[in-house]
Amino acid sequence: MEAAPLPPFPVKMVREGVAELVVPETGETQATTKLPAFYNPLSKVSRDLAVIVVGAYFSGGTCSLAAEPLAGTGARIIRLLLESGSVSEGLAGDISEWAVRLCEINRRRNGLTERLRIEHLDANLLLSRLAVEGRACYVDIDPFGSPARFLENGFRATERRGLLGVSATDLAALSGSSRRTAYWKYGLTLVKTNFYRETAIRALAGFAVMTASRLSLGAEPILSVAYRHFVRVFLRVERGKRRAHHARALVRYLIHCQYCLNVSVISNVTEWREKCSICGNPNTIIGPIWTGALHDKNLVERILSSGHASDPTYGEAIKIIKAISEELDDIPWSFQLSEVSRRARTSPPKTKHVVEKLREVGYRASSTHYDPAAVKTDAPPDVLTKIVKELVHN
Ligand SMILES: C[S@@+](CC[C@H](N)C(=O)[O-])C[C@H]1O[C@@H](n2cnc3c(N)ncnc32)[C@H](O)[C@@H]1O
Ligand SMILES: [Zn+2]
Repeated sequence: MEAAPLPPFPVKMVREGVAELVVPETGETQATTKLPAFYNPLSKVSRDLAVIVVGAYFSGGTCSLAAEPLAGTGARIIRLLLESGSVSEGLAGDISEWAVRLCEINRRRNGLTERLRIEHLDANLLLSRLAVEGRACYVDIDPFGSPARFLENGFRATERRGLLGVSATDLAALSGSSRRTAYWKYGLTLVKTNFYRETAIRALAGFAVMTASRLSLGAEPILSVAYRHFVRVFLRVERGKRRAHHARALVRYLIHCQYCLNVSVISNVTEWREKCSICGNPNTIIGPIWTGALHDKNLVERILSSGHASDPTYGEAIKIIKAISEELDDIPWSFQLSEVSRRARTSPPKTKHVVEKLREVGYRASSTHYDPAAVKTDAPPDVLTKIVKELVHN
């Protein structure tokens, strides 16, 4: 077979997982959206997570088709085909002609000519076509910035009982730093809090669940991660109004006091209280965001006992999943110990000691996967502050 011509810009060969990939040469600079085709080595962990989660979700069966409509140079879909152990065929698309060209080169290089179809097409067109012609068991939405404009078609293209993985890198909007963007892009009212990474995960999960419920689909997060420049949520997709309603009902609001850090969940804006019940200062509202569980415990266990767990390629991703397995994921907030210590006018104690002490006095508590110096707890902030003070002074 004749080799495909290389593109008219510098390229290099990289190895990621078991894949050999021809990608644009970026020199000293990081991958940017200005490149003729996109490959970001910093997103390896995001791709590792996709391989691991898809492998465990479909273990014991097969995923007959995985679709990646924003595939760049094909690193993710190629690795899903080579490493997940459960995907038989793939469909990749990209709007960029050069990304598609490199994806074709990489397909051939990795011996996937028969198993991977590649389309030079807009993601929404590709997904709409899939929705009509035959859905995929797994759909992966991995855009620059916000996935908002691809999610509805992403769900339409996902097989019932299938899986959708979505990532976002517009963390300023999702974590409450760019409040205007959160509002116009996602319809969310967010504020920056000391648990902004938790907010970003739950804002994306909630937006996805609301998008699915409009289509009478029940989407449920089965693994959710905040890591460096991205947040990523994997959602199981089920058909039916009852399921859609059930999931949508867990998309709720938080009431947060920025003065004493008091925070609670309300189901509806009508339950809003203007003043903090602890310190009397004005409350702020956050939402609507996902307030249900972020992970499926069985899936997490399956991952941790799979072959991927002992393979060093996935070391960083497995570290995250181990941390997730210890996290209380039904508490939709956390406390940064630096912030609590500042209020207690003391230095921050070790997270482990705070978690142990909170449990000792009868509260639920855990660490988080996204911040080694944060705790999740149902204890009120004044109790937490007292414990922090005691731990440092004893
Ligand atoms: C973040 S990159 C994808 C990286 C890839 N998923 C990976 O893991 O290596 C986003 C890609 O979306 C492509 N893109 C942007 N807008 C698009 C659209 N409307 N339809 C299809 N592809 C698009 C870009 O060309 C780029 O390759
Ligand atoms: Zn307060």
